[in-house]
Amino acid sequence: MADDKHLDTSAGEDHSKSAYAKYAEQEDVDPRCIPMKLDGPVPEHDAIEYPDYPPHDHETWKTLYARQERELPGRACEEYLEGMRILGLSPERIPSLLDISHRLDAMVGWRIARIPGLLDTNDFLGFMARAHFPSTDYIRQPEEIEYTPAPDCFHDIFGHMPMITNPFFANFFQSFAETYLRVTDEKEIRQLERFYWFTVEFGLINTPEGRRIYGAGILSSPKEVLHSLSEKVEVVDFTPERLGEQEYDVWHLQPILFAIDSFEQLEQEFKAWAKRKGWND
Ligand SMILES: [Fe+2]
Repeated sequence: MADDKHLDTSAGEDHSKSAYAKYAEQEDVDPRCIPMKLDGPVPEHDAIEYPDYPPHDHETWKTLYARQERELPGRACEEYLEGMRILGLSPERIPSLLDISHRLDAMVGWRIARIPGLLDTNDFLGFMARAHFPSTDYIRQPEEIEYTPAPDCFHDIFGHMPMITNPFFANFFQSFAETYLRVTDEKEIRQLERFYWFTVEFGLINTPEGRRIYGAGILSSPKEVLHSLSEKVEVVDFTPERLGEQEYDVWHLQPILFAIDSFEQLEQEFKAWAKRKGWND
């Protein structure tokens, strides 16, 4: 049923047991972790205002950016690094969603919608189905630098947005959202959720220079960046059917990952799989 749909859209933080235990011991679940249903429109593109961030928010961005950026050379794929250059993200201060929206619009026709927090999956994918990436604009608190259970704009901007500048990836992303919103069978929904997890959040790509990362959950997490390309991970060739059956555990480093050969392959094989499954009839 649609109510059971749950896409892990803010993957990639510290999934260690101790971090989770600390979170799970809290008496009340952090309200930021409860997916919300939107009850009205949110600002999009030119309507997005830049928040009046306190200085410590920019410091948090600066710290997270510097920590991740130094891990990227030789690990992040060229398409992601090119996306970073296109978006011109500042290392010093939290970027403007409006500026990013204009740059994405010029590159691939995608725009940004500013959302208030973790969204209900259908709301989240409803934006993506019309080529809008739903992004938060707040950043974790200073004491949450190492671990935050909730989505924030570091994950959304640094993790996700550079890849959306790639036309094949952007087309796949939109096609995925359109497909997911049509599927109602619980088993098939799980297959799509796994597909999202092992591509958008935890995807690897084979290149002539070696294996590289494109998944946002890896690229926004220091531990995952190092772990994902280590010998501790079994990398499986990308086939949608195999990927759709692979279970995952959000609270631990990933023992199995999948490598595509190109973003054109990702788009084409996803669409071909959806066709074989009869999802887009
Ligand atoms: Fe995400």
